Amino acid sequence: MNADNFLDIDDLSSDELQTILARAAALKNGDDDSRLEDQTLGMLFEKPSTRTRISFETGMTQLGGHAIFMGPEDIQLGHGEPLKDTARAAGRYVDGIMARLFAHKDAEILAEYAEVPVINGLTDDAHPCQTLADLLTIREQFGKEVSVAWVGDGNNVGQSFAIGCALADVDLSVATPPAYAMDEAVIERAAEIGSKPDVYTDPEAAIEGVDVIYTDVWVSMGQEDKREQKLEAFEGFQLNDTLLAESNAKIMHCLPAHRGEEITDTVLESDRSIVWDQAENRLHAQKALLLELLG
Ligand code: CP
Ligand code: NVA
Repeated sequence: MNADNFLDIDDLSSDELQTILARAAALKNGDDDSRLEDQTLGMLFEKPSTRTRISFETGMTQLGGHAIFMGPEDIQLGHGEPLKDTARAAGRYVDGIMARLFAHKDAEILAEYAEVPVINGLTDDAHPCQTLADLLTIREQFGKEVSVAWVGDGNNVGQSFAIGCALADVDLSVATPPAYAMDEAVIERAAEIGSKPDVYTDPEAAIEGVDVIYTDVWVSMGQEDKREQKLEAFEGFQLNDTLLAESNAKIMHCLPAHRGEEITDTVLESDRSIVWDQAENRLHAQKALLLELLG
């Protein structure tokens, strides 16, 4: 792998991405016994997490290493110590740092100062670990030719996924409300890689004929004060039986889901939903990533 850090999905080339996905599949099948004996991953969280925290910690245990949870109140970072000092000190102890942060810039600061590999476990702008699991899930379900619609907010999960689809040659359409579109730089980056998504503001247009429909919450962590305006802006974007009436697509969601907002309980619990495989694949994909970065 060229990059020492994994701050967004395009820190991997297309070939490196395919190598990690293949290794993740092998790990899932139990036919890779690579280890990270005596290695420690520091896990820094400014926001809550279920999947990211549990899958990284379990992954390190399964690989023979160890993970340390560092919550915002537990360490001096939450009491005024600058991030760059936290990075320099922690980097002298651990073999890698996985961080869930608000500002993407802070992930870059961490990477600049830590002197060990830094993995982005979600920022306001990107969630590349989720993309690894998403692409592994899509690869398991479909062959090479697959089309996906992203329906919802154009922020972290969607943005990394859009770039990941370009790297993995997955055909993508995107529907967001105009005020919550993906960053133009993300669309341009996907185009530069070789696969610009079709961009819509109408979910019906975006989902026509696709194999997979993927959504995320409308109110992301840290946006609680924008709740009312966001719920209004996303009206019509809910994955429900009406929107999906003409579609047989599989349903993906990074989770946690807010039933009754971006998705109905019926759709999330239906046979077409592959969200639990998607959640499981966080573990396998991240183990492959850890082996690549720390191994
Ligand atoms: N999808 C995801 O990152 O979930 P958590 O917030 O539970 O980690
Ligand atoms: N967009 C969501 C993703 C959670 C995994 C958020 O940032 O809260």
